[in-house]
Amino acid sequence: RYDARVDSLLSIMTLEEKIGQLTLFTSDYDVTGPTIREGYKDDIKAGKVGAIFNAFGADYTRKLQEIAVKETRLHIPLLFGYDVVHGHRTIFPIPLGESSSWDLGIMEQSARIAAEEASAEGLHWTFAPMCDIARDPRWGRMAEGAGEDTYLGSRIAEARVKGFQGKGIGELNSVLACVKHFAAYGAAQAGRDYHTTDMSDRVLREVYLPPYKAAVDAGAATVMTSFNELDGIPATGNKYLMTDILRKEWNFTGFVVTDYTSIMELIPHGIAEDTASAAALALEAGVDMDMQAGFYNDALEKLVKDGKLKESLIDDAVRRILKKKFELGLFEDPYRYSNAEREKATVMKKEFLDAARDGARKSIVLLKNEQNVLPLSKNTKRIAVIGPLANARKEMIGSWSAAGDWTKAVTLLEGIKAAVSPATQVLYAKGCNINDDTTQYIAQAVQVAKQADVVVLSIGEAALMTGEAASRTSLNLPGVQQQLVEAIQKTGKPVVVVLSNGRPLTINWIDKNIPAIVETWFLGTQAGYAMADVLFGDYNPSAKLTVTFPRAIGQVPIYYSMKNTGRPMDANNKYTSKYLDESNEALYPFGYGLSYTTFSYGDVILSNKQISQQDELTVACKVTNTGKLAGEEVVQLYIRDMVGSVTRPVKELKNFQKILLQPGESKDISFTLTQHDLSFFRKDMSFGVEPGKFEVYVGGNSRDVKTAGFVLQ
Ligand code: IFM
Repeated sequence: RYDARVDSLLSIMTLEEKIGQLTLFTSDYDVTGPTIREGYKDDIKAGKVGAIFNAFGADYTRKLQEIAVKETRLHIPLLFGYDVVHGHRTIFPIPLGESSSWDLGIMEQSARIAAEEASAEGLHWTFAPMCDIARDPRWGRMAEGAGEDTYLGSRIAEARVKGFQGKGIGELNSVLACVKHFAAYGAAQAGRDYHTTDMSDRVLREVYLPPYKAAVDAGAATVMTSFNELDGIPATGNKYLMTDILRKEWNFTGFVVTDYTSIMELIPHGIAEDTASAAALALEAGVDMDMQAGFYNDALEKLVKDGKLKESLIDDAVRRILKKKFELGLFEDPYRYSNAEREKATVMKKEFLDAARDGARKSIVLLKNEQNVLPLSKNTKRIAVIGPLANARKEMIGSWSAAGDWTKAVTLLEGIKAAVSPATQVLYAKGCNINDDTTQYIAQAVQVAKQADVVVLSIGEAALMTGEAASRTSLNLPGVQQQLVEAIQKTGKPVVVVLSNGRPLTINWIDKNIPAIVETWFLGTQAGYAMADVLFGDYNPSAKLTVTFPRAIGQVPIYYSMKNTGRPMDANNKYTSKYLDESNEALYPFGYGLSYTTFSYGDVILSNKQISQQDELTVACKVTNTGKLAGEEVVQLYIRDMVGSVTRPVKELKNFQKILLQPGESKDISFTLTQHDLSFFRKDMSFGVEPGKFEVYVGGNSRDVKTAGFVLQ
C-alpha cells in the first residue's frame, strides 16, 4: 500500500540517512543489555538513528520524537520499541506461567491490554512474543516462553501476535509484534545463556521452527535474531535462517532486527574479523536493523563506497522499515501514540487489573492436594504465612516486566489478609531469605507456625533468577529454603507450599512430605489476590504444566515427547535406557495439574479404524466431572506414529480443549485429526504422512491417558 511513498522518500535519501534508518539505539532511561550509547540524542539529530528502544511515556517519547521530526533534514519519525513481554504497566503472569492456563483467549487478551497501555505511552513496537521452545530448565529464559511443546507453543505464539497487533498495524491501540529469538535460542547447550546451539535440520524444522512460523503466519510485523549460533553460524549472520527460511520459504515481508549488540558479537563468536566484516555478514544474511551495536552506522557507508557491498541491500532494508513507519501512521502524525491524556486514561485501569487477576488465577497449577487440605476455610482461626516470598512485593512481577511498577504489586500476605474473615488471625514470618545461607530466622518461623492451624509456606526463586543471563546449574530451592520447609513440616501442622519460580524446580522432598503444593510462577501485579482466590477456593484451579518437572537435574533435558530408543526402560533389565540412581519418570509430567474436583475419562472412540490419506479422523471421548465442585479441565489429544521412515516421538500433542463441567456433568468431546496432524518431515525431508499404525491418546495430562489405535492406509 505504501510502496510508492516509500520509494519516493528513499529516492531523496543520502546513503548516510538510509543507514540511519537501519539503526536502533537504547535510550538511557532503561538499559537491557551490556552497553549504552552515549550521545544517542546527537545521533538522532544527525539523522543516524531510525529507532529508539528503552524509552516510553507519552512526554518522554514526544521529546525524542521532536528531535527526529524537527531537527533532521528529512523529518523522518522515530520508531519506539520496548520489551512489553507480559504486560506493560499492568503486569500479567510471566509467559511460562500464563501458558499454563492453556487459555488462548486470556493470552490474546493480556497481549491486547499490554498493547493498549504501551501504545498510549508512545510505543510502536514490542519485542515479543518470545517463541523459543525450551526443554532445559537450567536456561533462565524458559520463563519468557510457552514451555516445551511445539504445538501448544505455536497456538500461543499466534494468540500473542493477534493480541499485540489487534485489528491491525496503524490502529492506535496496537503495537508491532516481534517474533523472537530466531532461531532455536532455547536449545542453548547445558542451559547456559548465549551458548552454542547445534541440531539436525529435522529437529530444527520439526520442534523449534513451528512457533516462530505460526507467529509469522499470524502477521507478526518483525522478527528478532537470536544470540546463539546454529550449525556454526551465529543467527545474526545466518542467511539460511534470515533469508532462505524466513523470507523465501515463509514469505515474511516485515523487517528483521538483531538482538542487543549481536552484530558486534559476530566478532567474539569468531565469524567476523572486524566491524566491517560483521556488518556486511549481517546485512547480507538478511538483517535489516542493527540493535545497539552501531556497526551498520560505522561500516556500511564505506563498504558501499569501496564497492564491497551492494547499496540495493541497504535500500531493501530501508524500504521494509519505512513501510512499517508509514503503516503506523507516523508520517501523518509522528506523535499520535504519545498522548498524555490517553496514557492517563489507559494505564492500569480497573478493567485491566481485573483481567490481570483473572489471568493470574487461571495460571496457577495445583500440583498436589492430599486429604483436601485445600481449599482453606476463610474462617480458619489462625493462618501462618511464612517464607521469603510471602511478602516479597518486588518479586511478584517477575523478570522482563520492564515498565511494571513492582510497588503496586499485591503480595501473598496481602492477598490472604484481604480474603479471610475478620475473625481470622494472619501471622507472618519471613523464615529466611530467598538466596543466602542465613538460618537464624528459621526458629522464629517455627514458633509462628506452631501457633497456627495451618501454614502457607511461600518459597521459590527471586524474579531475577530467571530471564536473561539467569542460568542455573541446580534446580533445587535456592539458599536455605529447604531447611525452612523441613523445620516447618516437623511442627506437624498442615502445610501448603506455594511456589513462585520461573522454571521447574526439583522438589521431590516436598512432593513426598507436604500435603498441598501450588505452583504460582510469578503472577504479576495482582499476584497475591489471585493466589488467595485459589487457596480459599474462590477460583477452582484449572492450569496444567506446559513444561515437565524433573525429579533430578541429571534427567534434563526431559520432556514428554521423547523418542522410545531401541532399548526402552525395563526395570528388570540392566541393559536398557535408564539411570542407576533415579527413575526415567517426571515428577510432574507435561500437561499435569489438579483441580478441587475430579474428572474421569471414558473410552476413546474413533470414527474409523482405518482411514485413507484423504480422510480426517474424529476422536471422541466422554469427560465427566466426578467431584462436588464445578471445574475446568484441559482435555488433551496426543498421537503416536508407531513406525516411520524416521523414528517418531512416543507422544505428540495435536489438540486440546478447555471445558467447564458442573458436578456430575459429562461432555462428549470430539477432535478432528487431519492429514497435517499426522504429517512429519520424512526421511527425504519432505513433509507428509506415511501409511501405518497410529495410536491416539486422550487425557488430562500427557501421562494418564486413554488409548485407541487406527491404521492409515
Ligand atoms: O528484547 C530483548 C531480548 O529478548 C534480549 N536482549 C535485549 C533485547 C532488548 O531489550
